[in-house]
Amino acid sequence: MFSRSRPRLTHGADAVVTGAGSGIGRAFALEIARRGGRVVCADISLERAEETVRMLDGPGFAVQCDVAVQSQVEDLALFAELEFGGAPTLVINNAGVGIGGKPVGAIGFEDWNWALGINLWGVVHGCETFVPLLRTAGRGGIINVASAAGFAAAPTMGPYNVGKAGVMSLSETLAAELSGSGVHVTVLCPTFVKTNVAVDGRITERSTELAQKLMRWTGFSPERIAVTTLNAHDRNRLYVVPQLDAKAVWLTKRLLPTLYTRGAGLLDRLLPGEPTPQSLPAVSASTGV
Ligand SMILES: NC(=O)c1ccc[n+]([C@@H]2O[C@H](COP(=O)([O-])OP(=O)(O)OC[C@H]3O[C@@H](n4cnc5c(N)ncnc54)[C@H](O)[C@@H]3O)[C@@H](O)[C@H]2O)c1
Repeated sequence: MFSRSRPRLTHGADAVVTGAGSGIGRAFALEIARRGGRVVCADISLERAEETVRMLDGPGFAVQCDVAVQSQVEDLALFAELEFGGAPTLVINNAGVGIGGKPVGAIGFEDWNWALGINLWGVVHGCETFVPLLRTAGRGGIINVASAAGFAAAPTMGPYNVGKAGVMSLSETLAAELSGSGVHVTVLCPTFVKTNVAVDGRITERSTELAQKLMRWTGFSPERIAVTTLNAHDRNRLYVVPQLDAKAVWLTKRLLPTLYTRGAGLLDRLLPGEPTPQSLPAVSASTGV
């Protein structure tokens, strides 16, 4: 139940959603429109963003934006201000990509840069660009989409874990900085959600299969995640850890961090087909390749 005085930021919002062309981002856009809002749907794929806009039950605007590129996020803010006739009231830094299946030392810097460029720098660009607008308006909200990976630190998911842990830390920092400003901050940390993230990313075949199975068995729908998160944001909740498995990992990691980490390593070694040191690419000491 909401008290009469509590502002429901997600109702009638002027919202910007990144990665709005699929999955959780699309579900956020649709739910905000259902709540009477206007949505700028940004995605690296204009076609996907336009598809989302056509599905909206209200006004929406599609725009191409690669969140890894600072100038494109700055252009996104200008576009939103122009369309809304003022600053947005809700910004959802959702765009992200999946990466996994290789242990540290076999990932390669190209993949590290690619994943962190989108999953971490994309959110940094969004916060650095939009926070001043929200702070000046003295109201509104930011929702950053992290993941349970941000605290679970599962083996062979290094770049994903690091990016999402960064998003959690950035959100916590922001929440402290913006407390009392009228601007809410929420960070979403789900485990599996039924979307395209496992097929569209850079994930080894074995890990893609495993992720898809877990998604089918335990995954929530993106619609359920969007509704839960927006309601939590209205209540000014900082953390949204929507699923039981995520809550269990969160608690165990906090109470027994060393045991948790050793257990995760053991489980990983027991899984069939895991990358072993023998299966890693050979590195010649003389040539470095
Ligand atoms: N699906 C899950 O199980 C799960 C779990 C935890 C967290 N997440 C996070 O949820 C967020 C949304 O992912 P999803 O599951 O809906 O995946 P998805 O692949 O269905 O959607 C991601 C969208 O982001 C867009 N995108 C990719 N790179 C981009 C870029 N550089 N700039 C702008 N847009 C870009 C894609 O085109 C796509 O439309 C991501 O941050 C992901 O890490 C997903």
